[in-house]
Amino acid sequence: MKKMQITLSNRIQKILNIQYPIIQAAMNWLTDAKLVAAVSNAGGMGVIGPNAGLIEDTHLKSTEKLRNEIRKVNTLTDNPFALNTFFPPDGDIEKENHSQKFLDLAFEEGVLYFVSVGNINKRLIKSIKDQGATLIFRELTPTVEGAKIAESLGADVIIATGYDEGGRIPKRAIGTFSIVPTIVDAVNIPVLATGGINDIRAVRAALALGADGVYVGTRFIVSDECPAADETKHDIINSNGYDLILVSDEHRSTPNNYAKMLEKMHLNGASSEEIEQIIAQGGGALSGMRNGNSYEGIVSVNTAIDRIKEIKSVKDIVDELMADYQDKEAY
Ligand SMILES: Cc1cc2nc3c(=O)[nH]c(=O)nc-3n(C[C@H](O)[C@H](O)[C@H](O)COP(=O)(O)O)c2cc1C
Repeated sequence: MKKMQITLSNRIQKILNIQYPIIQAAMNWLTDAKLVAAVSNAGGMGVIGPNAGLIEDTHLKSTEKLRNEIRKVNTLTDNPFALNTFFPPDGDIEKENHSQKFLDLAFEEGVLYFVSVGNINKRLIKSIKDQGATLIFRELTPTVEGAKIAESLGADVIIATGYDEGGRIPKRAIGTFSIVPTIVDAVNIPVLATGGINDIRAVRAALALGADGVYVGTRFIVSDECPAADETKHDIINSNGYDLILVSDEHRSTPNNYAKMLEKMHLNGASSEEIEQIIAQGGGALSGMRNGNSYEGIVSVNTAIDRIKEIKSVKDIVDELMADYQDKEAY
């Protein structure tokens, strides 16, 4: 494919010390050491997500499990990688303490890069910045105000999440094409676009909108290295965006048996909150995606899955999406 003739900024490469401005998005149960290291080895940045490396809901979300996973990544790559951390709202002390415990462990293990998800949390931002670590900040529902505050508190990169994304979708139905330039205009630090970026055309669109790089989740599920079940990977390949089911205000799924059941409950009056509780009790992506049981869990994906045609190695996905960067003259 012909290379794109635009000036490519390399702010993300510099800040994150990586070859290509592609960051693998954190995904509950699905982003373990093997996937994370594969992305970092391919020149992007892998991000350890919740329940990394686990295969069942042990309710032992202990810091020690995370320590093992961080150490495993370190044995598999010498390149930078990041840890995903939940930011509760300021003042939710119990949840803050919980996140702080994970941060402290990560600091002990020498982790230098963090991807937050959730809210502005002054104490946790300060804790990361005081370590001299790098913060990639992601508000669940991106806002201009949130991006500006995060920047003023020392965030290094902002993620602008479009409604197209897989996982817990933003509360406002503003697509990637709309939210990325809004956030780009609001801050001076670099912005990563996320939501529906599954091929090089979407990467180019993100850059054209002013993003400095991309944060990619769903595409990496359908990789050799992702621990998602083969059934899940094939379900994504065989599904299309049009048939996705919005099972609650916060999650969409391929039309598997479980999603159809939840959709029926929703139509019969179950609230979004009730549906969310059922999804959470089932371990989120554990049953439907990690274990591939279409009767027990949803398969949460972005709206652009028509672009995903085959299971590929992480390296092939990174090379394909970052093809414009392989010509050094281009940037
Ligand atoms: C199955 C799945 C699970 C996810 N779990 C998490 C999570 O635990 N923490 C988080 O910050 N984001 C989570 N996300 C959101 C991703 O980090 C990211 O924002 C999203 O996947 C990007 O959009 P894309 O899927 O369109 O590439 C999840 C996404 C998916 C698809």
